[in-house]
Amino acid sequence: MKFNILSFRLFLNTTLFTCFFLSSCKFSKQNTDVGLDTIPSLSKLYENDFYIGTAVSTSKLADSTYSATIVKHFNSVTAENVMKWEKIHPQPGVYNFAAADSFMAFAEKNNMHIVGHVLVWHSQTPDWVFQDAKGKLVNRDTLLNRMHDHINTIVGRYKGRVHCWDVVNEAIGDDSEMRKSQWYNIIGDDYVQKAFEYAHNADSSAMLIYNDYSLPTASKRNAVVQLIKKLQSKGIKVDRVGMQGHYHLDYPFLYELDSSIAAFANLGVKVSITELDINILPFPSEKFDADIGMKFEMNDSLNPYVNGLPDSMQVVLANRYADFFNIFLKYKENIDRVTLWGINDGQSWLNYWPIPGRTNYPLLFDREYQPKQAFWKLVELAKENN
Ligand code: XIL
Repeated sequence: MKFNILSFRLFLNTTLFTCFFLSSCKFSKQNTDVGLDTIPSLSKLYENDFYIGTAVSTSKLADSTYSATIVKHFNSVTAENVMKWEKIHPQPGVYNFAAADSFMAFAEKNNMHIVGHVLVWHSQTPDWVFQDAKGKLVNRDTLLNRMHDHINTIVGRYKGRVHCWDVVNEAIGDDSEMRKSQWYNIIGDDYVQKAFEYAHNADSSAMLIYNDYSLPTASKRNAVVQLIKKLQSKGIKVDRVGMQGHYHLDYPFLYELDSSIAAFANLGVKVSITELDINILPFPSEKFDADIGMKFEMNDSLNPYVNGLPDSMQVVLANRYADFFNIFLKYKENIDRVTLWGINDGQSWLNYWPIPGRTNYPLLFDREYQPKQAFWKLVELAKENN
């Protein structure tokens, strides 16, 4: 299997490299200054299928082009960072709600479907959460109390207003076993169950999501199926499996994505595509994970498109988006939302993860907010399907 994947990557890399040269290094802008009023709204085109969401960086909302693009094309928003533990609850007993409140105000003013991200995760969570005043690890009861206080306070504050919560993020590790995070090490594997119980008790009307990456990979898919089944057998309410969707040109295989959506739908939960972007740059690891702790050194061969993306690659990206959306449309009864992880290429986290300082092109709008070929391809696809 590993051999096959590596051979496929080699084939794809060679093909892409050839495309790059055949394109004669032509870098053309997709459209010259296409005004927002003159183009169709993506979320309207897909409104009978699923929400089209985006991650919002609250500090950018003051930029009118940024916010107008969101309002025009997206009907669901996820807080990219401001509801994460390190931001909203940076110190014991200290909650900073200002940024999350302004995210909520923007979302509510524009009647958006609102996703809260994220309650329990091993990343972007301060060390103090797991330690006592002397830096020693706390015991299970203390950590459960802290988790309860955190979830109850935040979910309680936005009760009836945040429609969906990413309750637990990335509980399954890359070995497809329970990730040995501090949550797991200190509380045990029922920490996932407890988080869902606390969230449900704080707002019984909110949809609760288990969210993770690399879910098209069969071993991880199976681990998540087992996890959800176990929660269901205990009567725990889990409404959605969130498939992050940090994808590549050569990951995942489409049949694997298809199989995972089918497997989750079979559990009776809906699937949300929660963080879609397509990394077109060489990936420096054999594993296609999306662990934000991963970091690699920069070198020029890993950053081939600093001067723009050649047309040939725009086409490759557009076709990859269409391949994914074809599968999402096939499962539209089972998918409630497809959320892009950002608006324009210049703002994507993939410019600094897993290698800081690269020039990436993973989204639907270019650095000037102009729609890319990928955008037009999705417009075309929506029209064909309606
Ligand atoms: C990323 C944000 O986009 C960045 O701005 C931040 O610096 C790191 O986190 N999986 C997740 C998201 O669940 O919260 C991460 O978001 C991307 C990977």
